Amino acid sequence: LVASLEQVEETYVMIKPDGVQRGLVGEIISRFERKGFRLTGLKLFQCPTELAEEHYKDLQSKPFFPKLIKYITSGPVVCMAWEGVGVVASARKLIGSTNPLQAEPGTIRGDLAVQTGRNVVHGSDSPENGQREIALWFKEGELCQWTPAQAPWLW
Ligand code: TYD
Repeated sequence: LVASLEQVEETYVMIKPDGVQRGLVGEIISRFERKGFRLTGLKLFQCPTELAEEHYKDLQSKPFFPKLIKYITSGPVVCMAWEGVGVVASARKLIGSTNPLQAEPGTIRGDLAVQTGRNVVHGSDSPENGQREIALWFKEGELCQWTPAQAPWLW
C-alpha cells in the first residue's frame, strides 16, 4: 500500500452514458481536478460493442454481462486518463463502492447514484489495468503528458 501511494501511476476513468445524460460530466471531472490529479487524456466517445466487450472481458461469464455491454454502448461516454501518485487506488476511493447504495456519502457513486447497473463512472482496479485500459480507449497522439509551469502541486 505504501509503495503504491508513492508511485506515479495512470488510471482510466470513464463517465458512463447515464453520467453524461444526467449532466454530471463537469461535477465528476471537478472531483478529480480538485483532488490534485493531472488530466492526461479526455474525450467524448460513442463506444462500439467490441470495445465494451474487450474492456469488460473479465466479466464475460457473468449473468449481467449482456446488459452491461448494452448500457455502456447506449450513448456517449467520457474517457479520461489521470496521472498521479497513488491515483489508481485514490480514484477508486473517490468513486466509491460498485453498488451505489453501499457507497459512502462523499464518493461519486455515494452522492450521485442508486443502481449498480447505473453507477455513473468507471475506474481501473490496478495499475496494470490502468495501462491496459488507457491503451484500449485512447489512440497514440490523444494523450498529453505535461507538468505544471510553477510548483508541482498537481500529482
Ligand atoms: P466490477 O468491475 O465488479 O465493479 P467496478 O465498476 O466497481 O470496478 O463491475 C463492473 C461493472 O459491472 C459495474 O460497475 C457495474 C456492472 N455490474 C452489474 O451490473 N451488476 C453486478 O452485479 C456487478 C457486480 C457489476
